[in-house]
Amino acid sequence: MAKAAKKKPLPDVADLNKAQAKVEHRRLALELEAHDKRYYQDDAPSIADAEYDALRQRFNAIEKRFPDLVTSDSPSQKVGSAPSGRFRKVRHALPMLSLDNALAEQDVIDFAGRIERFLKLPDNNIDFSAEPKIDGLSMSLRYEGGELVTAATRGDGAEGEDVTANIRTLEDVPQKLKGRKIPDICEVRGEVYMTKKAFLALNERQKAAGDTVFANPRNSAAGSLRQKDPSITASRPLGFFAYAWGEMSALPEQTQTGMIHWFERCGFKTNPLTKLCHSVEELLAFHRRIEEQRAELDYDIDGVVYKVDRIGWQERLGFVSRTPRWAIAHKFPAERAMTVLRDIEIQVGRTGSFTPVGKLEPVGVGGVIVQNVTLHNEDYIKGVGNKDEVLREGRDIRIGDTVVIQRAGDVIPQVVDVMIDKRPKGAREFHFPKKCPCPLHTDVVREETATGEEGSRARCSGEFACPYQKIEHLKLFVSRRAFDIDGLGEKQLQYFFDEGWVQEPADIFTLAKRNNRLKLEEIEGYGETSVRNLFAAIESRRRISLERFIYALGMRHVGETTALALARGYGSWQAFHEAGLKVAKGDEEAIADMDALDQIGDTVIKAVAAYFGESHNRGVVERLVKELEEILDAERPKSSSAIAGKTVVFTGSLEKMTRDEAKAMAERLGAKAAGSVSKKTDYVVAGPGAGSKLAEAQKHGVTVLTEDEWLKLVAG
Ligand code: IVH
Repeated sequence: MAKAAKKKPLPDVADLNKAQAKVEHRRLALELEAHDKRYYQDDAPSIADAEYDALRQRFNAIEKRFPDLVTSDSPSQKVGSAPSGRFRKVRHALPMLSLDNALAEQDVIDFAGRIERFLKLPDNNIDFSAEPKIDGLSMSLRYEGGELVTAATRGDGAEGEDVTANIRTLEDVPQKLKGRKIPDICEVRGEVYMTKKAFLALNERQKAAGDTVFANPRNSAAGSLRQKDPSITASRPLGFFAYAWGEMSALPEQTQTGMIHWFERCGFKTNPLTKLCHSVEELLAFHRRIEEQRAELDYDIDGVVYKVDRIGWQERLGFVSRTPRWAIAHKFPAERAMTVLRDIEIQVGRTGSFTPVGKLEPVGVGGVIVQNVTLHNEDYIKGVGNKDEVLREGRDIRIGDTVVIQRAGDVIPQVVDVMIDKRPKGAREFHFPKKCPCPLHTDVVREETATGEEGSRARCSGEFACPYQKIEHLKLFVSRRAFDIDGLGEKQLQYFFDEGWVQEPADIFTLAKRNNRLKLEEIEGYGETSVRNLFAAIESRRRISLERFIYALGMRHVGETTALALARGYGSWQAFHEAGLKVAKGDEEAIADMDALDQIGDTVIKAVAAYFGESHNRGVVERLVKELEEILDAERPKSSSAIAGKTVVFTGSLEKMTRDEAKAMAERLGAKAAGSVSKKTDYVVAGPGAGSKLAEAQKHGVTVLTEDEWLKLVAG
């Protein structure tokens, strides 16, 4: 039977010791989260507001007395907006992607250079649209027959939330597109934002009414949009700038700036600072000018965006994983603030690596309250970078120090300096642990770098026997981009883990079967409905896409993009699994095949080999697969093309396009562009100067094509 907490009179917060506080804090956090979910997502609160407020007050009082307990995901840290999940999900017809970042001018020069080389164009001959980067929420508006039918947030890029009713209240969003000859399907994309003035006024009103005060205009725009009642959204002054598009049944213009003017003719607002630039120098001058104007603008921007103006070129340039090659965000320099470092804690990650986290006196930087800062590793604290360079002019970081922290966009805050003249007498040096804080107390080892040298990161050597690693791995497994199990957040998972109910991924799928014994509904903060919902969410995940599945396995160095590359490369779980087992055994052909995949190199191959080489992991995977109904084969893009599924090797120089462009085109059409010729190669495209690869092709009897023959083949 589950340890269902029976209600007893609670001691005063002032009388709690640290251990008691910790336990109660955890329990209350779970409870508050469950109530929030019922209130916001299910619209079915199970307690009175006053009761909820009392729970929250006690929770806040505990955090106030023991500030160490505050974590970044604590319910006290959630800003204004209601948690998502209460809006219908919408799958975007075309994914909503993000942009690569440039921080230095050189990054912009490199960006333009890459494009010139890719397109084989003479120097500085490309026009760019330069636009402010609005710090709001991106939105996709779908019009059918000229009428607005759906408005969706970006979400994870593939699926967003349906906020149509709320978006209809925005003055800047036309219900019907103006003009003649509007394509039947138009997806207009852009940014929803709140002006700084409106944000300040709204916060004044919220404060007076005792309601949520928002941290910045972006949060207040998000909070205002995620309202159940559209009349609340209507009362909040939100604006919209159009700057991009998704699915279009016909493209009315040939250039980015042309499209922006077309959006205006349709009835949209576009950003008045947008400018057509003819050289990199003009782009950099644009950046400098906008940065000067930044403070006077009535909306927040965090940089500028450059986009190749000609859409035909955008199409040729295409994408690298989730970002376009034809656009970049040139960010403004980071914002800084000074605060005191109160403590340093060690976090043990999914792969056992140790990250020292600095606990700060909370401080506002660029509109966000920061209280944790990563200190990377032992050397970083001492003032040594990962290339052995001297950091902060050699100043080390001690507990009690006044530090300067910096935050750039969504990047994790960094300590950029230590104020030695403010160092108090009692400032303490931090001694990196020699043993893992896990019950195994295993020795800490230094991680190896890719070149086999001792690296700067420390790791627990306990692998899966280390509970920290197990729980971190489980957290990744249920996370949004992996199995995305609704109702199984980090806190619930930790609870199940501590109780011994879930130790590995397969256990999640047997929870329902074991519930006669576990009785989850008896845990305080749960209840029959939430348990039923949780089981339904788990059931619905017995079918999963291959890329999510691979990502969820949590192999080192296999993030989402790599998982997608592996899924696309192998197509099915069976093929990938077999390859993984072979690679682990050192099978040279399997290793060469994996190496030939786009975006996969030595580090990933080693990680896959290490993973499948470990018998414990093989067991975990086997038990998990048994619980699943189906691992869906990966979609290969444009499988109808003549080269879909084929392996192509390019050699010699090409005349009509660069080798990079040719490879990218092959991949777009569903082929695999490999680096070396084997008997599995389908085509070798050979240009002038082709050497050994051509000979190899002849040896294996592989079809050899000229560049023109190749272009004819792909044109279908
Ligand atoms: S273009 C495929 N243009 O920046 C590229 N994005 O990191 C589509 N943003 O999610 C984006 N101003 O929310 C583009 N003028 C602008 C933008 C802009 C702001 C945001 C947008 C996007 C993020 C990209």
